[in-house]
Parts: sequence; structure tokens; C-alpha cells
Amino acid sequence: MADRGEHDDFLQFAIDHMSSGEGAEKDDIRWLGLRVLGTIFGAHTNTAMSVASTLSDLVEHPEALARVRAEIAALPADAPMDLAAMRTLVHLHRAINESMRLRSNGGLWRMAMCDLDLGGYKLPKGTVVGASMGLVNLDPARYDGSHEYRPARFEAMATDNYQSPSVGSTPLQFGAFGTGRNLCSGRPLAYAMLAAILVPLLRDYEWEVVARPRRWFTLLTGGLSRPIGGLTLRYRRRASPPRA
Ligand code: HEM
Repeated sequence: MADRGEHDDFLQFAIDHMSSGEGAEKDDIRWLGLRVLGTIFGAHTNTAMSVASTLSDLVEHPEALARVRAEIAALPADAPMDLAAMRTLVHLHRAINESMRLRSNGGLWRMAMCDLDLGGYKLPKGTVVGASMGLVNLDPARYDGSHEYRPARFEAMATDNYQSPSVGSTPLQFGAFGTGRNLCSGRPLAYAMLAAILVPLLRDYEWEVVARPRRWFTLLTGGLSRPIGGLTLRYRRRASPPRA
């Protein structure tokens, strides 16, 4: 289908065809376009929300913030801020994971490809099923004090390079990027972007929470829960970032 038009790339092709065409082709292209846009904008908002929540949670917890700043300051001054250096920041990754754990309540959506029995419910083929990742992430059986902010909890758990419990484990343990057989394919990129953004913000700026949201909207959002009411941070440049 793409051969029939001039398009810069696949995304432009999908966008151009979203409101044109007829019948089955229109439906196919519309479905494709929505899927592409959903993936891109879902990734964008999840990544932005992860930056905002990790930053505000750290500012609200000075001890955790001090641990993260200490490991950033301990990096060699002339070290490039590459992926290898970023992965050594274990406290930062634990903080990222803890904020995502507390605020990841997005829905994982699946369509039943055949009639099936799910926990006693008879689901006909074509039924759409949504599961909230918050049920895994905030389950007291999986996380002691599950509603408390404790980034250090990951130290006592079996974790991967990103200080995250396995995302494919049975029983399920960490659902921020999905869990089980299908996962967020942008997960490594997301961690790289989060670290690349958060390191200079934490190293070079002082932060203060000016306004806290009234609540966090947690039920089946696109990925991470959203603040209800303003979340405002004030910043000023640190005089001279401490170095080890
Ligand atoms: C902290 C940031 C992010 C979070 C919390 C997140 C979370 C998720 C979740 C929960 C899913 C659904 C998985 C499922 O249905 O099984 C997903 C899917 C996906 N994400 Fe992310 N994501 C993030 C960042 C990114 C980034 C940066 C990219 C790439 C640019 C990306 C690309 C994708 C893709 C392509 C899928 C669809 C995978 C599939 O259905 O096979 N994500 N993400």
C-alpha cells in the first residue's frame, strides 16, 4: 500500500491514511495509524511521567536523594555519561523503579482469540480483557509496605541490570513495563532516557516542591498514573555541584 504514495516514512504514511480510503482498507489503515500513534505518545507520556514522579518523589525523600546524588558525584569527573556509566547508578535506578512501581497502574489489554475460561468467567472469543499493573505493583504479598516509598527495597530482591525485579517472572513481580510474555519493547531506551535526563537535573539543580497534586489518578490510565491537580517543582542552579 505504501508504494502507491509519496511518504517520508512509515509514520507519515499511517497519518496520511488515517482519514482517507474506504471500507476494509480504511479500517486497516486507521487501526494501524492509531496503533503507531498510541505507541509513540504512550511512550512519550510514560517517560515524561516517570521523570516527573521520580524527581518529585526524590525531592520529598531527602535521604534517598542524598544517596543518588552521592553516587552521581562519585562518577569520575571526566567520565562520559554513557550507558555503562548510567547503569552503575544503582540508587538512581532503584528510585526510578520505586516511583514507577508506586505509580504504574496502566492497563494491559488483550483480546481473547478463542472462547476461554478465566478464573471462572466464560469469555467468548473477541472479548477484550484489561488488567491493571497496579494489582501487581501494589500487592502487599509482593511488596512489604506496598504503598510506602522505599527505593532500598530492591536491594534485597533479585534484580537485573536496571535494579528491577524480573519483568517476566512467575509469579509476576514488576509490572511497570508490562509483565509476562509481552513487554514494552522500549524498556532499555526508557531507562537510558530517564537516567540521561535525571542525572543532570539532580546533579546541577536544587529542587523544591511548590504544589502537590490532590491525588493521583490510578485506575487503568495509559501507563503511569496521572496527578490530579497541579504538581509544581521550583528549581535553582546549584552553586557548585559537589564532586568526589
Ligand atoms: C518509563 C517509560 C515507559 C513505560 C512505563 C512503558 C510502559 C509500557 C507498557 C506497560 C506497555 C504495554 C505492554 C503490553 O501490553 O504488554 C508498553 C508497550 C510498548 N512500549 Fe513502552 N513504556 C515506556 C517507554 C517506552 C519507550 C521510550 C518506547 C520506545 C520509544 C516504548 C515503546 C513501546 C512499544 C513499541 C510497545 C508495544 C510493545 C508490544 O505491544 O509488543 N515504550 N510500554
